[in-house]
Amino acid sequence: MIIAIDGPAASGKGTLARRIAAHYGLPHLDTGLLYRGVGQIMRDRGFPLDNVEIAQVIAEHLDLADLDAERLRTREAGEAASVVAAHGPVRRALLALQHSFATQAGGAVLDGRDIGTVIAPQAEAKLFVTASPEERARRRFRELVGRGECADTAEALAAVLADIARRDARDSGRADAPLAVAADAVTLDTTHLDIEAAYAAALAAVEARRR
Ligand code: CDP
Repeated sequence: MIIAIDGPAASGKGTLARRIAAHYGLPHLDTGLLYRGVGQIMRDRGFPLDNVEIAQVIAEHLDLADLDAERLRTREAGEAASVVAAHGPVRRALLALQHSFATQAGGAVLDGRDIGTVIAPQAEAKLFVTASPEERARRRFRELVGRGECADTAEALAAVLADIARRDARDSGRADAPLAVAADAVTLDTTHLDIEAAYAAALAAVEARRR
């Protein structure tokens, strides 16, 4: 069973994917980490993010085992990820790794932007997890404040909302594998749902597909 979970920035898809994977005892891949990894390596080595050739080479040599999820969760890594993720050759370089993860024996859960549309269109269950931009900004803001990455002020919240809007526009507007709802996906709007309610709804949607 392949479970594909897509959605925009800070929609809560990662948390839902982790919990669903644990529930079914399936391996889980947060595909955003791959793009974050490429973006962060570019930054660490001082390469401009718009250098497609170098980004492609880094993507071709990316090793999942080397990715430090904690370090890649920062705001700057997310921003860099969405820039390199718009480069077609980078996306193509990361295809094989994602395909083989998705098609491993026993099944898998993957979350990202294009899992149900490009990476695993054959997935049995597809969820598109979303929430209003304001609610997603509040969630990301609380996360950043909790990690000491941003000040607890109204100005900082407004800046996070602007980040989210910019990322939505970049992810939805790119030519290659833009963020889009797969025709056979179940959309889950979590704007007014807490994590437990969202998890229950997500699990119910997956169970309905399994039957
Ligand atoms: O947690 P958040 O939604 O902020 O970020 P993420 O899922 O880690 O993704 C970071 C960036 O990587 C996104 O803004 C996308 O541009 C890109 N991405 C993508 O293009 N395709 C994927 N399958 C996953 C992430």
